[in-house]
Amino acid sequence: MTDIHYLERPDNRDLRQIPGDYGLPIIGNALSLAKNPLAFCDDRFNRYGAISRFAMGPSHVVLALGPENARELHLDVGKNFSSAKGLGHFETLIGGSLIMKDFEEHRFQRRLMQTAFKKSSMASYVEHINAICRNTLQPLLNAGEFRLGGYARSTLLEIAAQTFTGVAGQGKDGAKLKTAFENFIDGFTFIFEINFPGFRYHRSLQAKRYIADFIRELIAEKREGNDGDILAHFCRERDENGQHFSDYDIVENFVVLLFAAQDTTTASLINACYELGRHPEWQERLREEARALGKSAIDQDDLAALPSFEYVFKETQRLHSSVPLFPRRSINACELSGVEIPADTLLMNAITYNHILPGWWTEPKKFDPLRFERGEHKQHPFLFHPFGGGAHKCIGMHFAQMVFSIFMFHMITHHDIQLRPGYDPDWQYLPMPKPKDNLPMQLVPVG
Ligand code: HEM
Repeated sequence: MTDIHYLERPDNRDLRQIPGDYGLPIIGNALSLAKNPLAFCDDRFNRYGAISRFAMGPSHVVLALGPENARELHLDVGKNFSSAKGLGHFETLIGGSLIMKDFEEHRFQRRLMQTAFKKSSMASYVEHINAICRNTLQPLLNAGEFRLGGYARSTLLEIAAQTFTGVAGQGKDGAKLKTAFENFIDGFTFIFEINFPGFRYHRSLQAKRYIADFIRELIAEKREGNDGDILAHFCRERDENGQHFSDYDIVENFVVLLFAAQDTTTASLINACYELGRHPEWQERLREEARALGKSAIDQDDLAALPSFEYVFKETQRLHSSVPLFPRRSINACELSGVEIPADTLLMNAITYNHILPGWWTEPKKFDPLRFERGEHKQHPFLFHPFGGGAHKCIGMHFAQMVFSIFMFHMITHHDIQLRPGYDPDWQYLPMPKPKDNLPMQLVPVG
């Protein structure tokens, strides 16, 4: 073992003892993975087993499939796997945030977020989320066909502007902030770091600078005041020694929220509407639960009376996982499924493939939300893991589910989701699954 710290060491590219192949010259297997990650994983699983090697451009990667390997990578009892190096591609955009920290450093950063995502703190976000969902949906009701993708994204950006910073998305500052959020997120699809005007990566770096300046100006005021937004909680949080977190920590952990929260939740709304459009009986079921509440807005405590909303959310995540793959890099030589993995090797586990893994699920490709009532997902703690697990488990899981339920509540209580007859879209799978055409649909009133 070399004396150089693992964060300073280059990726290991020598995987010759591991079964698999590197696909085409230069691009490797990148195209077939992007075209359909499920088919890619299925093919590898059948040809090579749970552990195989492949190439993403110049990177040589180990695909570690199945719930047991997900458990090893997520729980990481032996401290063998680094998130920082797994996500190294995004260093310049989110390198200072908790998602790219390991072990002690991660624990320190995670503390900064803890109060903002407590149930009691989230109660104060609910009113805004209800109001924003109601307002954005209003012009779409009974207004003919629209594409949900753009509306859902814009709604969630407005929710972010309001609940993350306390700045309403409609005003001048709010509109500028929303645009910066959007530009920042769009940059994450970069392949090469081309930092020239006109390139997404460049726009993303500029947007990060704008957001950072905006946040830094608010920190002192948020620390002194008692605002209930997420940024205010970050600013008031203290470390184990009773000190406030630095401005740098606050900014870095603020911007990672945009990366982690926005398109993941947007995709879950689009894909749920796609499934609901094809399963009117499930719309009926949601509508009945929503109407039984007899309310025009819902809060956190109402979610318990909406079990079908939760099942639909989970079944949508199972079939269309918003985070299809998650990366790590080995720190030490270790073993997965009996195969020796060298130190410094990039690894990926496919959440999306575990969700349809043959032999575990009944009719895995069928939309059947009641499988969550039956507890089919409980056969293994990492068979169904759309929010990850272990130290890096999604801190916004309840926030995402709450936003989903509130949005759906306002959409479905008095309206029916209708898709085009015979609608059968082309799919985008990475970075997030959704119909490429952003789901044309209508909301038609029901009595
Ligand atoms: C459907 C929506 C969402 C899905 C499927 C999702 C999924 C995930 C997954 C799989 C991870 C773990 C990544 C890893 O282990 O490498 C993660 C981490 C994270 N998520 Fe989410 N997420 C969602 C929404 C949100 C929301 C709404 C927020 C915040 C408002 C959020 C904030 C975070 C943060 C900060 C982390 C990093 C946690 C850490 O490293 O300790 N996510 N998410």
